This record gives sequence, structure tokens and C-alpha cells, in this order.
Amino acid sequence: MAYSFSITRTTAPKQKPDPDKLLFGKTFTDHMFIMDYSDDKGWHDGRIVPYGPIALDPAAAVLHYGQEMFEGLKAYKAPDGRILLFRPDMNAKRTSKTNERMCIPQIDEELFIEAIKAVVRVDADWIPDKPGTSLYIRPFIFADEAFLGVHPAHHFKFVIILCPVGAYYGAGDCGLSTQRIFVEEEYVRAAPGGTGFAKVGGNYAGALKAQQKADEAGCAQVLWLDAVERKYVEEIGTSNAFFVIGDEIITAPLAGTILPGVTRDSVIALLKKWGLNIQERRLAIDDVIKAAQDGSLREVFATGTAAVISPVGELLYRNQAVTINGGQVGPLAQKLYDTLYGIQTGKVEDDMGWTVTV
Ligand SMILES: Cc1ncc(COP(=O)(O)O)c(C=O)c1O
Repeated sequence: MAYSFSITRTTAPKQKPDPDKLLFGKTFTDHMFIMDYSDDKGWHDGRIVPYGPIALDPAAAVLHYGQEMFEGLKAYKAPDGRILLFRPDMNAKRTSKTNERMCIPQIDEELFIEAIKAVVRVDADWIPDKPGTSLYIRPFIFADEAFLGVHPAHHFKFVIILCPVGAYYGAGDCGLSTQRIFVEEEYVRAAPGGTGFAKVGGNYAGALKAQQKADEAGCAQVLWLDAVERKYVEEIGTSNAFFVIGDEIITAPLAGTILPGVTRDSVIALLKKWGLNIQERRLAIDDVIKAAQDGSLREVFATGTAAVISPVGELLYRNQAVTINGGQVGPLAQKLYDTLYGIQTGKVEDDMGWTVTV
């Protein structure tokens, strides 16, 4: 099905930010996409309008009961001028799964992708092209029906906003650096039967307290343990976690409590293609610490849209610092970063068929 959306262009284009000083999530482009849902019309009136505030009734359900979801992906400018999205079909599929869990009306996956392409095209001149920069795309849906009472809403808005973002590590194309990570044993992120696999704001609001502890301990992110036994490693902040022990690479299985990351899926596919021993299985934090002590823990890294690959140089566990790979970026993390980031930006041949031209 072909979708078309009306476009109202801004009469007051904003000044573009200095590409050398881009921060994550601070600057937004000139336009946004909005679409409404009502029970009688379904999803309707998809439109691109100047970026700006959205009026909400103070009783809007999202403000009280948090019925909402969001996604995150990036557009890159390739050296030949093409605009590339990375596996947007995966974000569309994850949206469907999140919507199902959150009682949010489903959006046709093709519509989801076409809406992204349409708004990215309108603001194409906002995509930075310096090494390491990109246009971050944030689709989200929220219940804007005015009522107090806990039941699924009947009116929603689907919105897409865009922000040019800088090199995550602030060091250009392949300047990976390591992070210090806090192993959290008090608070949990998601329990079986909860919303861990869905991309919903509540998961992140509930994580802020642990992140505060990590900040105070001088760590960049939290390593979450499972909610039932506080024993098995799950995710690192807003990314999935991989552990290289001996010749095995281990990541937590998709059992409902972790987010099924697009980067995670891509990393697993690359590792399999390279013939490496990648296992999706539970891994106890005690086994990670033992492996660090006996020298078999070779690398730990996190994977996600924001940074692609984030190597971990140190784990802070029960006030003890556990150093990984001498605190240096490991060879596997570097190879994965070079390959994935290269494919995303059109600099490495995409033999996986992952990139989509806008
Ligand atoms: C909790 C969580 N885990 C993992 C990820 C990584 O997912 P992706 O690779 O799709 O960005 C994210 C980021 O969206 C996240 O918020």
C-alpha cells in the first residue's frame, strides 16, 4: 500500500548546529511527523508539520498511567550522498510487539517505515555528514485521551522527531573508548511477565534510581541482573551486553526481560557469519567475576543504536573494581564496530542487506 502524508513547511527554519559540537538529544530539526488514532477512524491524518509543542489535556492518559512507547534508529549520509536507514523493519516489528503488550493500536509496519522516510526526506539537509555524526530518529506513540481511570485509551498520537547527533565517543570515526559499569544488585529493571522486552518509558523511569547510584560511583551505566535471583547478567543501561570468555561469546537470551536490540541481532548475525562461538544463554555474574580472576574474561561490550559498540573497561561489583582487557578496547569490539558502523554509513559493503535507502 502506498502512503502519502501532507507537508506543511516551516516559515522560520532554525539555524543548524555546529557539527563539531553536536550533543545527543539536545537539538531538533525543523519538522516532525504526527498521526492520530481514534477508534472510529483508526490511524489517520498523517502529516508533516513544523517542529513544536503539542497541546495536551491535563487529564491525558499518558501523563497519569504511562500508556506510551518509543523507538530509536538513525539515518546516515553515505559518501555517495545516499541517505541510509539501518534495518528499520526491525524497529517496525519491535513497535508491533511493544504495542501489543501495551494495548496500543497496531500501526502497519510499512506505514511506520514510510512515515520515517517521509520526515527524514523533508529534513534531509539536517543530516550531518562529519565522521561519527548521524540523524537520530525517535518515533513514539502516546495515549492523549482525557480520562482518569486505568483502562486502555481510545485516542493516541504517533509522532516522529529527529535530532542530529555527534560522534558518541567524541573522537571521530573509530575512536572507541571503554566505559566503567556498575553492577546493580539492589534495584531491578524488568521481571518475567513485565514489560522488559517492550520499549516503554516506564522501564526507563524505574531505572533512574540505579543510574543515579552508578553516576555517584563514577560509572557510566548499570549492568542489570535478573529480577528473580539477582544472579544472571541481563543488559547494560540502554544496551545489550556481550561477554567474551575463552572462545565463547555469551549474551542473555530473549526471554522477555531484556530489549531485543537491533544491534544485538546484527552482532549475533556477524559473529555467526565469522564462524565464532556465540551463545544466547544465561550467564551468572559470579562466573563473569571468576573468569576475570582466572584470566579467561577477554572482553565485555554493550551494543545499541546510540554508540553501536561500547567496550567495557571495568566492572564495579560490590565495591571491587574488576578490570577487563587491561581497561583497553578489545579486538572483537573494535572489529564489530568497524564492520557495523561501516555498513551503517555506506563505507563497508552491505552484504547482509541491512541498509535501506531513503
Ligand atoms: C534497554 C535497552 N536495551 C537494549 C537497547 C539496544 O537496542 P538497539 O540495538 O535496538 O538500539 C536499547 C536501546 O534502544 C535499550 O534501551
